[in-house]
Amino acid sequence: MNLKDLYINYFVSKGHKQIPSAPVVPENDPSVLFNTAGMQPLIPYLMGQVHPYGTRLVDYQKCIRTNDLEEIGDTTHHTFFEMLGNWSLGDYFKDESIEFSFEFLTKVLNIPVERLAVTVFAGDDSIDFDSVSYNKWKSLGIKESRIARTVKDNFWIAGETGPCGSDTEIFYFRSDDLIPEVFDPLDDRWVEIWNNVFMEYHKDENGKVTFLPKKNVDTGMGVERTTAILEGVNDNYLSSIWKDVIDLIASISGLSYEGNQKSMRIIADHIRTAVFISADPAGIKPSNTDQGYILRRLIRRAIRHAKNLGIDINSDWESKIALLIIDKYKDYYSELLDNKTVVLDVLKNEKIKFNRTLEKGIREFEKVVSNNNMIDATTAFHLYDTYGFPIELTVELASEKGISVDVSGFHNKFKEHQELSRTASQGKFKGGLAGNGEVETKYHTATHLLNAALKEVINKDVHQKGSNITSERMRFDFSCDHKLSDEEKRDVENLVNKWISDGLEVKSQEMSKEEAIKSGAECMFIEKYPNIVTVYSIGDVSHELCGGPHVKNTKELGTFKIMKEESSSTGVRRIKAVLIDEE
Ligand code: ALA
Repeated sequence: MNLKDLYINYFVSKGHKQIPSAPVVPENDPSVLFNTAGMQPLIPYLMGQVHPYGTRLVDYQKCIRTNDLEEIGDTTHHTFFEMLGNWSLGDYFKDESIEFSFEFLTKVLNIPVERLAVTVFAGDDSIDFDSVSYNKWKSLGIKESRIARTVKDNFWIAGETGPCGSDTEIFYFRSDDLIPEVFDPLDDRWVEIWNNVFMEYHKDENGKVTFLPKKNVDTGMGVERTTAILEGVNDNYLSSIWKDVIDLIASISGLSYEGNQKSMRIIADHIRTAVFISADPAGIKPSNTDQGYILRRLIRRAIRHAKNLGIDINSDWESKIALLIIDKYKDYYSELLDNKTVVLDVLKNEKIKFNRTLEKGIREFEKVVSNNNMIDATTAFHLYDTYGFPIELTVELASEKGISVDVSGFHNKFKEHQELSRTASQGKFKGGLAGNGEVETKYHTATHLLNAALKEVINKDVHQKGSNITSERMRFDFSCDHKLSDEEKRDVENLVNKWISDGLEVKSQEMSKEEAIKSGAECMFIEKYPNIVTVYSIGDVSHELCGGPHVKNTKELGTFKIMKEESSSTGVRRIKAVLIDEE
């Protein structure tokens, strides 16, 4: 059994309910581009909202971190990764959480205690030393010399604001060297494998820290890293997660992994991430902004490295790699199979587009060299930035002409640019957590009404394909084969507004999945829900599986107005709508 299954089974046996992995593009949080940690989709529940599946949860979550794109190519960094997590929402706290982690590592994964070490919060001006965690680890058999007390790395928060708390991190000695008696968290032979955060505080925009309504536990374990450790390999790409993908790239290029590691790792990593982004229900396509820009950069960088390996770009190399990845993950993420054609089209279309730019870039290059006897930093960077020319390609082409390139000047420009884009992306993340405030709650309920109205006005086969809510507006994607006529739009609007003025009550009810299906409740991915689900009903007009939150009565919503109706992707239309407050 693989790590993911072992983890889920273990925590289910300890009373946890498995929750589905949320989409990589947050559904109701416009302040982040992608989910970067398992806890992100659970923020409202860590803040005190009741979770429909109870107080003990477990999952594997798709995460994407692209701040350090240029680091990809080493043995441990990935732009996409899966995070295993278990949560207590005001249920158990430090003692049990540490007991679970210890038992899972030593009894299920059979890791010798001798190879484990931990850090605990040392205490500072405002928060005491975490003696509870310290004593617990000691009582379980971790030697005192293997329990380090630190401050800096033992407090966890996602970004700047939100739920947070002290944590205890678990390390594994990943080396054949003799294990040192005293654990030094800075010695990189010790690698962190699991983080247990004890979330009892909330930090707001002004930096003010208050207690959360309940004490929660949030843990995170990286699947890629832990799998590599369990399989005894020092390069993640040699583990069972990557091995066959690397082998396929080797066979496509006719080269061996040895000597070509960097390009092969980049291709494997970037294509995998591109597959997951383009299969996400948010329907992201390559573009020059936000998630679409990340997707574009990933695909182009993979193509450049495929070129480095001498792969014939016009062959279907990218489809072969994508299909293998889809096959490897399909049992865990059904959206990969559902959106297989979309994924393959995204990759292929972007490849064709990039190929065209590459040719233009070559022409630009020829123009530059016909007038100059060297390529300066600005030109080299222009070729990189506008035409996607890797500096290695510029150098190679230049040397054929017997001219030189200001490579170090290029690297300086590159660094400047990287810092700019990093600052920009941090700015994006700094906005903190999405509100689950009153306005968003109203939009949540309006979304259910819109879904029901579309079914009534257009036909029963209209289904939700995605949704995104900000405090300014709602966006709703749905399956439909035609552009809505003005009449259809007006009918939908009128029907939603009629239901609002009818003052329909919103009620929630827990039931088994079977009952929910039998009752005809609407939902996006039925197979992803646990056996007990929550169904929200609005009068008689709507029954949907949902985690909430919702208003109590539709009369709270104001007036519903469609601002825009447009195509989202093939067979999917998108409506942007607002609620106007009458008072
Ligand atoms: N949220 C914690 C982390 O990502 C567990 O490390």
